[in-house]
Amino acid sequence: MCPYCPYNKVEYDKTLAKPYLKAILAEIKQYHNRLGRIEVPSIYVGGGTPTNLIDELGIIIEIIRDNFTVSGDLYIETTPSDINDESLVKLLRYGFSLISLGVQSFNEGYLKLIGRDYTAGILYPAISKVMSAGFKTVNVDLMFALPGQTIKEAISDIKRAIELGVDQITTYPLFTFPYSTVGKYLKLKSVKMPDIVTRRRMYKAIHDYCVVNGFRRVSVWGFKRGDLPRYSSVTRESYIGLGAGAASYLPGVFYFNTFSVSEYIKASLAQRLPVALKMEVSESMAMYYWLYWRFYDTYIPKRRLRELFGSRDKKIRRLLVLAKALGLCVQDEEHISLTERGAFWLHLMQNYFILNYINKVWSLAMKEPWPERVEI
Ligand SMILES: C[S@@+](CC[C@H](N)C(=O)[O-])C[C@H]1O[C@@H](n2cnc3c(N)ncnc32)[C@H](O)[C@@H]1O
Repeated sequence: MCPYCPYNKVEYDKTLAKPYLKAILAEIKQYHNRLGRIEVPSIYVGGGTPTNLIDELGIIIEIIRDNFTVSGDLYIETTPSDINDESLVKLLRYGFSLISLGVQSFNEGYLKLIGRDYTAGILYPAISKVMSAGFKTVNVDLMFALPGQTIKEAISDIKRAIELGVDQITTYPLFTFPYSTVGKYLKLKSVKMPDIVTRRRMYKAIHDYCVVNGFRRVSVWGFKRGDLPRYSSVTRESYIGLGAGAASYLPGVFYFNTFSVSEYIKASLAQRLPVALKMEVSESMAMYYWLYWRFYDTYIPKRRLRELFGSRDKKIRRLLVLAKALGLCVQDEEHISLTERGAFWLHLMQNYFILNYINKVWSLAMKEPWPERVEI
């Protein structure tokens, strides 16, 4: 398992896998019973490596389709070592049309350092296979600011992805979460987040390289070429998360399922929603939450801002005036768009605020299946 990965993860356990599938199917049914056959405009399967259990994945998609009206695209995350002719045929048959590969780096040394289970040699054939399989959009995830990595090396990874013809590149600086296993992983043990100046220089170099090569920024971390649909995850205005540790955001409420796989199975099979932590979202919080994700998307559609918040958006407007004065965003008739400088500062905000919050919620939820409360 990826030692740097901060998400909810457990080692594969055959005895848990079967009941876990049943529990997910039961959770889908519960939502169906509560909400009816609602329209589902997109399905995202990730993070992590859902293609580990590719046949079970097919059953989950089938049951979602049986219970809801799926009207939009299906997105899947995977890893280069899970790519072969058979898995690609299956993913396409299930209806996935946008795919993301967790490549992380093309450099053998860094792959070893971060504990990937493949060598650089498999990356070219794997990416080429995915590219010619027939997906609408192929994204690759890369990481930068790896321990000891130079700007030249980071750019060299981006260059290789571009040369291979991928449609989208998402590239994250290495975050080190105090609670994640990174601290216990010998090779990364003493690794700290790179300092702001280094991250700023690397981010700028990556941004400029992508732009010169015909890519444009489509999220804080993502660059895409052409007009193909963008590979994206929780940037939706509302969503329902299925599975242990999944988050859901519905009007007025944000909640997490229990992170414990066994507790999730117990609750779901007993026909209870496995919700462990729940937070009411006030109108003003909803407004900022929406704003954060639109900025993450790199632009705010002005019309949608007015539709959703009407005259309540005065506070936002004041904030935007300040952001414009600081060169963090610009605006035209229809959009308020994040600048390259704005994207970097949003990234910093993510570090110091969001990561802090993730750290509190995740570290508690990973220890206690049903936490009493968490203060953020
Ligand atoms: C949910 S993960 C996807 C994993 C991918 N599907 C796989 O199986 O390899 C999304 C991406 O976040 C990035 N990531 C994960 N942990 C990170 C960390 N601690 N710092 C920076 N980026 C991280 C990686 O690029 C990863 O591919």
